[in-house]
Amino acid sequence: MPVAAVKDQPGVQSQAKFVPGPILLLGAPGAGKGTQARLLMDAWRVPQISTGDLLRELRKDPEKSASPLGVEIRQLMDSGRLVTDELVQAMVAERLSAADTRNGYVLDGFPRTLAQSEWLDAELARVGGVVPVVAVTISVGYTELLRRLTGRRNCPLCGRIYNVYSQPPKQDSVCDVDGTALVQRPDDSEDVVSQRLKTYETLTAPVIAHYRQSGRFAEVNGELPVDAVTRAVADAIVRLRS
Ligand code: AP5
Repeated sequence: MPVAAVKDQPGVQSQAKFVPGPILLLGAPGAGKGTQARLLMDAWRVPQISTGDLLRELRKDPEKSASPLGVEIRQLMDSGRLVTDELVQAMVAERLSAADTRNGYVLDGFPRTLAQSEWLDAELARVGGVVPVVAVTISVGYTELLRRLTGRRNCPLCGRIYNVYSQPPKQDSVCDVDGTALVQRPDDSEDVVSQRLKTYETLTAPVIAHYRQSGRFAEVNGELPVDAVTRAVADAIVRLRS
């Protein structure tokens, strides 16, 4: 969906002076966190911080990816397992110290263990923020998650996310924005996807319970079309902030 359309949506456009603050987008692999985070980022002019993207960036660096840590990260990601809490926490701490996070940010894919959520709570309390964190989880059933992940294609240049079933590019396998050939993530094969969904159930589902208890939490139906999900997520955030 074009960014302009997001800005025109109720709950987004009306918030000219809206300070989004820290936003957590939670949900299973393939639920649409990245898709929604990018749309909110454009609408509210706050950065999207995706730990998956930060790790994939790190893997692109030939020196870092050849180091023992780089090899360990590749093996864990490509088999659908989580990398260590310490590593992602250090990456997130560094990213959150950047000036562009002052009015808020959308954290996508973090926290995904209870230890990470406890670390984040302590970190946010330590730095002290203008507004408290709010969490929105995007819920999608197992069969649809499988279809979305195996059909996903990404632009390696601009990062735009497509899907061969639901969000195809205008021209087959080519990015609409910059004409780059689209790629499939190595962890989107069916066997790795099934391991990622198991990892999610075991380690990440308890994180949702943690934020549900906080009272600054909402759940949205992620099986609706992308623009309807965007509206639901934006409305939930505005409501939680009011
Ligand atoms: P990460 O990159 O974070 O992957 P993920 O959480 O598994 O989530 P995905 O990016 O697969 O899905 P998404 O919810 O963003 O969906 P998307 O919008 O793309 O992590 C990868 C790996 O890194 C992990 O396995 C782990 O090893 C490591 N890692 C990352 N963070 C970590 C952490 N905190 N701790 C430890 N390890 C960590 O959408 C999916 C598809 O569906 C797309 O094709 C899209 O076009 C389509 N779609 C989206 N919305 C809709 C809709 N409403 N209707 C129809 N289709 C839709």
